[in-house]
Amino acid sequence: MTDMEEYLDIPMITRSRPLLEVRNIEAGYGASQVLFGVSLTIEPHQVVSLMGRNGMGKSTTIKCITGALPLRKGQIFFEGQEITNLPADEIARRGIALVPEGRMCFPNLTVREHLVAFARKADAKQDAAWDLQRIYELFPRLKEREHNMGNQLSGGEQQMLTLCRTLMGDPDLIIIDEPTEGLAPKIVELVGEYLKKIKERGVSVLLIEQKLTIAMRISDRALVMGHGAIVFDGTPQSLNANTNVRKEWLEV
Ligand SMILES: Nc1ncnc2c1ncn2[C@@H]1O[C@H](COP(=O)(O)OP(=O)(O)O)[C@@H](O)[C@H]1O
Ligand SMILES: [Mg+2]
Repeated sequence: MTDMEEYLDIPMITRSRPLLEVRNIEAGYGASQVLFGVSLTIEPHQVVSLMGRNGMGKSTTIKCITGALPLRKGQIFFEGQEITNLPADEIARRGIALVPEGRMCFPNLTVREHLVAFARKADAKQDAAWDLQRIYELFPRLKEREHNMGNQLSGGEQQMLTLCRTLMGDPDLIIIDEPTEGLAPKIVELVGEYLKKIKERGVSVLLIEQKLTIAMRISDRALVMGHGAIVFDGTPQSLNANTNVRKEWLEV
């Protein structure tokens, strides 16, 4: 190999690989097929939003990614390794965390107890990126509410806590299913701010939303889902400019 060939090889070797790669997946419930060949990729440090009307298959897609629903066809890779149909706990251990739909705080646990309960076990990763101190630094409101119970928190605070306790597990990819559903516009803004902070710390986010909302402002990429397939994949700017896609698949 000449020096030049060796030199040209370098970009191939060091090219960053996608964090998550979903290839042509199909899935469904019993006799009904819901996903008809969904493909998407998420690059490291990206926020990607997956949008679409109710019933289009967004939650089903993330059930497949997190191992809650088996694939009938297709493959999923995470950090270059195949995770197709691995058990959900194994997928979580590899660094994919799901923030479920609806805010799930325990009424009788304090904010601090919520966070500690979800901390990654000390032996799993020595250099845990997230601990109580870092969470409180980034989200001072939670520090103020440290000793309050789950049922004493506002909707926005509960959403913040649900997100932060997921971070305590030190994931590389966070998947959030409709975090702004049912929240007042002012709180929706706040959720956008939390997600920006998380992204700045190097965690990638797959954000599921029905409407454009905050997704357009904080996302690097926008995907739109219609009837079990991706019908748009591009920048938020190009989606904004694409009246046809917005009218057909997003607006009522
Ligand atoms: N557990 C289930 N059993 C049977 N059908 C389901 C189940 N969950 C979702 N579905 C159906 O799958 C389709 C897609 O649903 P879903 O993935 O939840 O859509 P979205 O998250 O985009 O609103 C819908 O027609 C819905 O009724
Ligand atoms: Mg859903």
